[in-house]
Amino acid sequence: MTQVKKIAVFKGDYIGPEIMAAGLKVLAAVTEKSAFDYTLLDLPFGGDGIDRVGEPLPQQTIQTAQQADAILLSAIGGPKWDQAPCRPEQGLLAIRAALGLYANIRPTQVLSEQMARSPLKAAVVAQTDFVIVRELTSGAYFGKPRVLTEDFAKDTMYYSAAEVRRIMHVGFKLAQKRRRHVTIVDKSNVLATSKLWRQVAKEVAADYPDVTVAYTYVDAMAMAIIAKPATFDVVITPNLFGDILSDEAAQITGSIGQIPSVSIGTTGPNLYEPIHGSAPDIAGQGIANPISMIHTVAMMLETSFGEVQLAQQIKTAVAASVKAQVMTPDMGGHATTTTVTDYIIAAIKSQHLEVVK
Ligand code: IPM
Ligand code: MG
Repeated sequence: MTQVKKIAVFKGDYIGPEIMAAGLKVLAAVTEKSAFDYTLLDLPFGGDGIDRVGEPLPQQTIQTAQQADAILLSAIGGPKWDQAPCRPEQGLLAIRAALGLYANIRPTQVLSEQMARSPLKAAVVAQTDFVIVRELTSGAYFGKPRVLTEDFAKDTMYYSAAEVRRIMHVGFKLAQKRRRHVTIVDKSNVLATSKLWRQVAKEVAADYPDVTVAYTYVDAMAMAIIAKPATFDVVITPNLFGDILSDEAAQITGSIGQIPSVSIGTTGPNLYEPIHGSAPDIAGQGIANPISMIHTVAMMLETSFGEVQLAQQIKTAVAASVKAQVMTPDMGGHATTTTVTDYIIAAIKSQHLEVVK
């Protein structure tokens, strides 16, 4: 008997539940004829957590999620909780910290079907395929003290050498499985944390003689992502810079509404989430792009469960929907969330039929 995998589900806020429903529908369809068996644990989190139990990350949610085999999270936050004593985003930062999810992997790939959607010229964006490895549990996001008064505010940015070293190893190991090139992002001409970042990067690089390394300041990197995106393979960046650069990178694919991510810790389940926000402006209209969540499901199947073929079926079906121009408005189409999802499911089922034939 195969083991039933436990998937913790944080369904999200605003468009969050709309795209989560799409992702789960695709998960059901793609696994229908496979041996992969799972059960879903619906847990209160983010704004939904505040509404259901009064806090964005209830203790019970942490405990149950810790026991799960993977966590699927949809976009959270929004104006509804602007005045709440604790914002939904605090829940996201707290779960990253509670589960020690220090490495966040965000792919940027521009498929040939999508090239026309990119705001960049086809010649510039062609062959773009890189991965941002963002440090996720330290840096400016977690530094103390944090002070906010009426006429003064202070954030603290820190890094220990051990924190830098472990994220470097994640990036270099990933590069060894890809095109063996790493770009180290920092601001070491100004920041002390960045000087340490670069120093440790150089030490770690010596362990990976088969990987070539480039060092770049974050401002130059912001330009290079637009000027020569196809030259990157693995990009390793501190937390705050990674937040900014990953949104920029997502945009060159034509829409941030298609990018998944995985956050990895030393032990415990990985957490999978689209990189975009909860888009309150389009919530409830049925036009949210489900592809980010569908890609997130594919990433989970492949990374946590080794279900490479199921993940591939999903990716092939998504590519088919883009090729057929069945796309939501953010990608220049006119389709609804449901139409795109159903198209992708039909494309998956037709692959099943081909396999049976
Ligand atoms: C992201 C998001 C979060 C972050 C927010 C919602 C706290 O922008 O995952 O990139 O800044 O890390
Ligand atoms: Mg962000």
